Amino acid sequence: MRNQGRLTGKVAFITGAARGIGRAQAVRFAQEGAAIIAVDLCGPMDTVVVPPSTQADLQDTANLVNSTGGRIRTTVADVRDVDGLRDAVAGGVEEFGGLDVVCATAGITSRAPLAEMSEATWQTMLDVNLTGVFHTCKVAVPHLIERGGGAVVLISSIAGQRGLVGVGHYTAAKHGVVGLMRGLAHDLAAHGVRVNSVLPTNVDTPLIQNDAVRAGFRPDLERPPTRAEFAAAARPMNLLDVPWVDPIDVANASLFLASDEARYITAVALPVDAGNSQR
Ligand SMILES: NC(=O)c1ccc[n+]([C@@H]2O[C@H](COP(=O)([O-])OP(=O)(O)OC[C@H]3O[C@@H](n4cnc5c(N)ncnc54)[C@H](O)[C@@H]3O)[C@@H](O)[C@H]2O)c1
Repeated sequence: MRNQGRLTGKVAFITGAARGIGRAQAVRFAQEGAAIIAVDLCGPMDTVVVPPSTQADLQDTANLVNSTGGRIRTTVADVRDVDGLRDAVAGGVEEFGGLDVVCATAGITSRAPLAEMSEATWQTMLDVNLTGVFHTCKVAVPHLIERGGGAVVLISSIAGQRGLVGVGHYTAAKHGVVGLMRGLAHDLAAHGVRVNSVLPTNVDTPLIQNDAVRAGFRPDLERPPTRAEFAAAARPMNLLDVPWVDPIDVANASLFLASDEARYITAVALPVDAGNSQR
């Protein structure tokens, strides 16, 4: 990817950076000159169906950033733990000299019809995918204000603007992220901080490429669907002829919103959804 220095001299705080979209953001932003403060839980959570990321994954992200010539500081922390997040950001700000960009990307999925869902499944979803985003913003905003401005990018989902079967808790959390974005954009405009969200369709990451999520797309099969069978079921969700987009597509949209090219764009919910919202 061509480096145009779109984030030269900037520092970006990214949650969920061990793999998937968070890793793509870290590497893409580093290519454009940003120093990266990377956070990930790197471990399992109750009720979550996605295989957990590991500290080796987070180290791989660090290696990829370093290979671009970029700088990165990694911390294992849980977005549900506001004190741990605050320490992670403070350490990065001390090392890199400030903070300009925030990407709240950490997220989980699990699956059940809403009326049959356990309290624990509901609560963990809201704690990570909504309150975790609030925590991320809460600990970062004072540093952005101190810097005199900045950009916040919250990763929502197509489920931030429409319903989907079997993930009502995820849908509620992702709608909440869009609301949080709009409220924060109003609160922070006077400080020169822009706040936007990105709403991806399916993205080719471990969040969806696992037996549990694939099975939700192919309830007709009695065994775990293959990648190709999953793709066949996912493709008709989108207007464009793709079953999913890649992490780099979400990272590039995030980069645009984080860069000065978007200097007068705030309070926007930007779909990166291959036309899913028109279906
Ligand atoms: N993959 C998709 O189809 C898709 C579509 C739309 C939106 N999204 C959203 O994009 C974001 C990133 O998802 P992804 O596809 O890269 O998933 P992923 O599972 O590949 O990566 C998510 C990362 O977040 C981390 N994480 C989860 N809970 C955490 C916590 N409590 N504290 C700290 N880190 C935590 C995980 O350890 C993991 O490394 C999520 O918010 C997800 O909801 C994904």
